[in-house]
Amino acid sequence: MIRKKKIAIGLFLLFVILQFYPINREVPTVKPSLDFLSGLEIDRNMAKQIKASCYDCHSHETIYPWYAQIAPLSIWIQGHVDNGKKKLNFSEWGSYSINQKRHHLEDCIEIVEKKWMPLKSYMWLHPEGKLEETEREEMINFFKSSL
Ligand code: HEC
Repeated sequence: MIRKKKIAIGLFLLFVILQFYPINREVPTVKPSLDFLSGLEIDRNMAKQIKASCYDCHSHETIYPWYAQIAPLSIWIQGHVDNGKKKLNFSEWGSYSINQKRHHLEDCIEIVEKKWMPLKSYMWLHPEGKLEETEREEMINFFKSSL
C-alpha cells in the first residue's frame, strides 16, 4: 500500500515538475507576402481547408489548443510543430527556390494521397482538419495545379 502511495506521489511530482519544462513557442512575425496562400488565386474554401489541415504544424500561424499548455502533451505537440515547420513552412514559402517549391508540392501531393497527412493523432482532436475523400482529392488537385 505504502509503495503504491509513494509511486503515486512520485508520478504526481514528476507531472508538476514537467510543467516547468521550457517550451519555445516564439515565432517570427508572419510576412503575408511570403505566405503560400497569399500569393495564389485560391478558392476561399480550399485556403480554409489547408489552414485547418496543415497550418498548425507547417506555418508560423499555429493555433494552440488549451491542452497544449500541459506537459507532457505540450512537449509532444511542440515536437510536431517544430519538426513539421523544419520540413515545410508555408509561412516562408516565398523564400523557397523554384526547385524547392516544386519538391515540396510533389511531397504534398504524395503525402496527402497516401493519407500520411494530416497526422492521425491531430485529426482526433481537430475534426475540422480531417479530409473526406472528396476534400482529399480536391486538395491533391489543388497542389497539382500549383506545380
Ligand atoms: C500535427 C502536425 C502536422 C499536421 C497537421 C500536418 N503535418 Fe505534415 N508533417 C508533420 C511532421 C512532424 C512532419 C515531419 C515528419 C518526419 O520528419 O518524419 C511532416 C512532414 C510533412 C511533409 C514532408 C516534408 C519532407 O520534406 O519530408 C509534407 C510534404 C507535409 N508534412 C505536408 C503536410 C500537408 C500537406 C498537411 C495538410 C494536409 C500536413 N502536412 C499536416 C506534422 C504535421
